[in-house]
Amino acid sequence: MSFAILIASVASAAASRPDGVVNVQIDTTAAGPTIDPNIFGQFAEHLGAGIYGGIWVGRDSSIPNVRGIRSDVVGALRALHVPNVRWPGGCFADEYHWRDGIGPLQQRRVTLNSNWGGSVEPNTFGSDEFMDFIDQIGSEAYLSINVGSGTPQEAADWLAYLTAPVTTTAGQERARNGHAAPYRVRFLGIGNESWGCGGAMTPDYYISQLKTYSRFVHNFNPLQSGDQAMRRIAVGADGADSSYVEADMHAWHERIWSWSFEGLSLHSYTSAGWPPAHPSEHFDEHEYALLLKNTLGMDALIAKHSATMDRYDPDRKVALAVDEWGVWLAPLPGSNPGFLVQQNSLRDAIVAALNLNIFARHAERVRMANIAQMINVLQSMIMTRNERMVLTPTYHVFRMYVPFHNATRIAVKFDAGIYAHEGIELPRLDAVAALDSQQRVWLAVVNLDPSHEASLALSAGEARAHSARGEVLSAPRVDSVNSFDAPDEVTPRPIAATLQAGELRLSLPARSVAVVEIR
Ligand code: AHR
Repeated sequence: MSFAILIASVASAAASRPDGVVNVQIDTTAAGPTIDPNIFGQFAEHLGAGIYGGIWVGRDSSIPNVRGIRSDVVGALRALHVPNVRWPGGCFADEYHWRDGIGPLQQRRVTLNSNWGGSVEPNTFGSDEFMDFIDQIGSEAYLSINVGSGTPQEAADWLAYLTAPVTTTAGQERARNGHAAPYRVRFLGIGNESWGCGGAMTPDYYISQLKTYSRFVHNFNPLQSGDQAMRRIAVGADGADSSYVEADMHAWHERIWSWSFEGLSLHSYTSAGWPPAHPSEHFDEHEYALLLKNTLGMDALIAKHSATMDRYDPDRKVALAVDEWGVWLAPLPGSNPGFLVQQNSLRDAIVAALNLNIFARHAERVRMANIAQMINVLQSMIMTRNERMVLTPTYHVFRMYVPFHNATRIAVKFDAGIYAHEGIELPRLDAVAALDSQQRVWLAVVNLDPSHEASLALSAGEARAHSARGEVLSAPRVDSVNSFDAPDEVTPRPIAATLQAGELRLSLPARSVAVVEIR
């Protein structure tokens, strides 16, 4: 038996070959939906060194910065074309009071972060600093408003501060703080995990909150109308639990003119067991296979919630927003457990690629996703220590996948094969293909097998493919990491296919992710 990966309208998997070479057939005419760039979104919470140290160092820091925001991090993030950043939480968001974080820095309220280690929250990184950060990295704001301990009025005032014209009192206050023009707020999260840290609300109670917030929290930015209008994301699924999804979608179906939402969240982390006890470094093949198996469960989860949404919304107007995902592992020994610090290995890069492929395969419904988290927390892109910065293996995957932003998914057919270890059976290969706006053909392919390379024979459309080149990410071991002392242990290198017996062959190393352009 082998895993048949079927994409779009393809009816059967490509047959296995006796020589072990895997035929990968891309059908450029079988165009699917657009892969929304927002599936490559990020999440930055006030948690550990996610903001302070990771993004914000202050204007007086010896670390090079622009208005307090560290320049090395900004430079690295710009290369990812980050489409949106979710902020200020997470659980933090439902205790965040935006007025604590505006105005002169010396006058900001100093509070405690009750969710994450009880650390001091200086509020020196507030709304204007976040918007500055978003602007510096060339991204869009996804604000998560406080439904748990705030009020609709507080949230409405926040949006007015950010988006109302200077002819209003709110706009004048923003102008006094240095920004006369209204900001863009592209996405608005109405609560966070309202089934858990956000207030443990029943679905019905949450829906009555949702209706109120969605009705009264306005975006006044005159440039945000039509297809630029702010999109509201309601709290949806907690992993496989679909009680919120069912209730939200039923309410949406019965909605009246005064309220709505455009997206529904799903939070699902890759972790084998709770609390997360699996190490982020020095792990063996069993841990590797177990975590990949858990990751692949994302596909069934999305299928399940999409099916519920389809019943109420067959035209797929409401997006599924997987706005928290990633590996959640044991805290690094010696770190503050409330700061969620973990290393990031080649395995995590493979986890990222598998999830991105799953999101692309569900592109009709999944139109947003936010990896947790951007810097120094959980499955981060970047780790910092004082003035030093390391790009994680996951960072490299996000950079390699940039050609898939806004591309059109096309069909790819191959025999996925099997990678088996100690009773765990997984597909050996996973792939997605897409056409970018210049009609270039891209293939992202993962070799899950940690010990054996895969030989692929590539074809694309009617015309014979004559070249394929791009980058591949692999490393000596699945638990290889980038550290401050060895920052390039897991780093992409060029890869190119060769013509052999009239075929375009690509040798995919064991335990690797490759992204190639096929011509
Ligand atoms: O990402 C860490 C936390 O995980 C978030 O604050 C919360 O929403 C989720 O439970």
